Amino acid sequence: MTQQQHIWMCPVCQQALRLVDRQFLCAEGHSFDVAREGYVNLVLAHQRSSSQAGDPPDSLRQRRLFLEAGYYEALANRVIEMVTSHLEGHVLDVGCGEGYLLRRLQTAAVAQGGNDAQPTRVAQFHGVDISREGVRMGARMSEAIAFAVGNAYRLPVQADSVRLCLVMMAPREGAEIQRVLAADGILLCVTPGEGHLANFRKLVYNDARPHTPVEVPAGFHVVSEEPVSFPLNLTSKESVSQLLEMTPYKWHMDPETYQRVRGVESLTDTADFTVQLLRRA
Ligand SMILES: C[S@@+](CC[C@H](N)C(=O)[O-])C[C@H]1O[C@@H](n2cnc3c(N)ncnc32)[C@H](O)[C@@H]1O
Ligand SMILES: [Zn+2]
Repeated sequence: MTQQQHIWMCPVCQQALRLVDRQFLCAEGHSFDVAREGYVNLVLAHQRSSSQAGDPPDSLRQRRLFLEAGYYEALANRVIEMVTSHLEGHVLDVGCGEGYLLRRLQTAAVAQGGNDAQPTRVAQFHGVDISREGVRMGARMSEAIAFAVGNAYRLPVQADSVRLCLVMMAPREGAEIQRVLAADGILLCVTPGEGHLANFRKLVYNDARPHTPVEVPAGFHVVSEEPVSFPLNLTSKESVSQLLEMTPYKWHMDPETYQRVRGVESLTDTADFTVQLLRRA
């Protein structure tokens, strides 16, 4: 973790945390060690429902392989275009997984040159996920991004501190995002569109139905909304398996269906997302 300003908040007393050596401290004296990989765990033991809350490690590893192979690059590129004028101040990705989108955004911000040429526009990137393994993987890969284990329903983030909040295929808790987002801040949400992975879902479900639109988070209004759709051509058993392991569909299938899908050699499908920019109402 590089020296940077932080937005983290003490999960015990809700006061700001500051970094002293390798510990985050609040004014009340609660302390949270920075792990070897550079992240901090801000979920209290009694608030954790299981030691492996969120996506399990293998699912995150498969997700990383799939994303790094570029299958959702068109989505990442469009998201970067949409937020490029908002890349200043603190950026927070809620449910960041292993940090794919944050890495892409941070690289884009550096490539823009804004960080050196216009110091006032420096963006600082933060990711929160309930999965410790996701956060660990993210922190290992990028020192320039601050990662914390945290709950989207109880964000360990100071009020009004975030200029740009991202939620990509992860839980959106309107009240919490409203609390942490600055009054002029912007929220970008990526949710599955109606046709998302329609062919893949036919492999999994007998009665595959279209995705239903996700509700606008409470306390926000939509500034703009657009579909981002592109073909997905998976030409190996490995890539079909990666998709299987990283999606929630896995949890809804019986062992026979699971084995059958794992044996599928290729898949032609459509990735279909809805991307919304929202502001506080
Ligand atoms: C489908 S993955 C998306 C990950 C990432 N946003 C991406 O697009 O690559 C959903 C993520 O939400 C996280 N998650 C689930 N429940 C959560 C919660 N209550 N608080 C924070 N993260 C949560 C999971 O651990 C997982 O990493
Ligand atoms: Zn405290």
